[in-house]
Amino acid sequence: MKKIMLVFGTRPEAIKMCPLVNELKIRKGIKTVVCVTGQHREMLDQVLTTFNVIPDYDLSIMKYNQTLFDITTGIMEKIKLILEKEEPDVVLVHGDTSTTFVTALACFYLHIPVGHVEAGLRTYNIDSPYPEEFNRQAVSIVSRYNFVPTQLAAENLIKEGKNPSSIYITGNTVIDAMRYTVTEEYTHPELDWVGDDKLILITAHRRENLGEPIHHMFRAIRRVLDEHSDCKAVYPIHMNPIVRKAANEEFYGCDRIHIIDPIEVFDCHNFEARCFLCLTDSGGIQEEVPSYGKPVLVMRDTTERPEGVDAGTLKLVGINEDVIYENFKELLEDKASYNKMARACNPYGDGQACKRIADILECGIYEPWVAKL
Ligand code: UD1
Ligand code: UDP
Repeated sequence: MKKIMLVFGTRPEAIKMCPLVNELKIRKGIKTVVCVTGQHREMLDQVLTTFNVIPDYDLSIMKYNQTLFDITTGIMEKIKLILEKEEPDVVLVHGDTSTTFVTALACFYLHIPVGHVEAGLRTYNIDSPYPEEFNRQAVSIVSRYNFVPTQLAAENLIKEGKNPSSIYITGNTVIDAMRYTVTEEYTHPELDWVGDDKLILITAHRRENLGEPIHHMFRAIRRVLDEHSDCKAVYPIHMNPIVRKAANEEFYGCDRIHIIDPIEVFDCHNFEARCFLCLTDSGGIQEEVPSYGKPVLVMRDTTERPEGVDAGTLKLVGINEDVIYENFKELLEDKASYNKMARACNPYGDGQACKRIADILECGIYEPWVAKL
């Protein structure tokens, strides 16, 4: 029997790894071990509860306002003993967080094969997103199995010289998670508050946007909300205290926005399905919202998810206040611009990614996902 250990630590990793944990657990040929780093605490626990995943190990490393040094040393100090005790055949990490990079490095030091879920995403700008672009490129150097979500991600790795036989096109596991979340009869007090107005969904948290850029983003959004009485914004805010302080300052006294605590993924997907449009700097939301055919204004200069931009549902609007303001206003006032972006497409998967990954790990069976665009 193969022992597969999954290591993750933040909300988005958990959302994308918990469906895989649950798929691996039902495989007879696999023993599954789950280790969470606790890089996030409340936001991680929320997802573990939703998917009913109980970790075998929890490194509990999160500190208030932690630095990259805190996360890196915190994980490095604690994970060695667990890896040595468990001696997994493969360790699965996800995406591009510090948890992902540090775990892959620890595995490299201990000669443990790494499987990289959501491999091959790139901006090729080491400062954007920061530090994620470094993290994912570094993991690719050591990874033995590369589970890529799309054809483009596979091509990135091939161009970088990775062995093609290590690359498996599976689709993104987040699409698997979405199969169970959106329901027609869904209700929520925030949706009642929005009523017949247009729901604007907002999220923002990127490390490279902290400081002046995030203030510019919030000011642009506030200007548009102040000018449009038919809009109401809901902002489930990240727990980062720097983000919270900036949002509270910029939206002070604005009665068209509700800033609320992080919502469960079940709620988030249902909000996405019902919003008029979304403004975000999140990675995962760029993958989810295109499925619902809602326009997404991506408040970043770069994206590692160009498939949604090519499909026309995502638009990169950068972090300049006036540019965000103009683009947001245009979608509210110009029906043709809105309709052009509001097209449902699903370039990131078909909801079978976990099954494909489990098949490869359990018995070496590989049937690639081919996007039908
Ligand atoms: C991390 C990832 C980023 C990912 C994001 C998802 C790195 C370097 N960054 O960034 O790639 O997009 O998660 O959300 O790995 N906090 C809490 N409770 C929580 C979570 C966070 O209080 O449940 C607060 C803490 O004060 C913490 C701070 O938020 O110090 C920042 O968390 P951190 O993991 O360092 O950075 P993120 O911006 O969340
Ligand atoms: N999400 C959530 N609750 C929230 C906000 C976001 O469950 O209050 C989900 C969202 O649906 C997506 C993921 O969190 O699946 C995105 O995480 P985040 O933006 O923190 O990280 P990123 O994707 O940018 O790494």
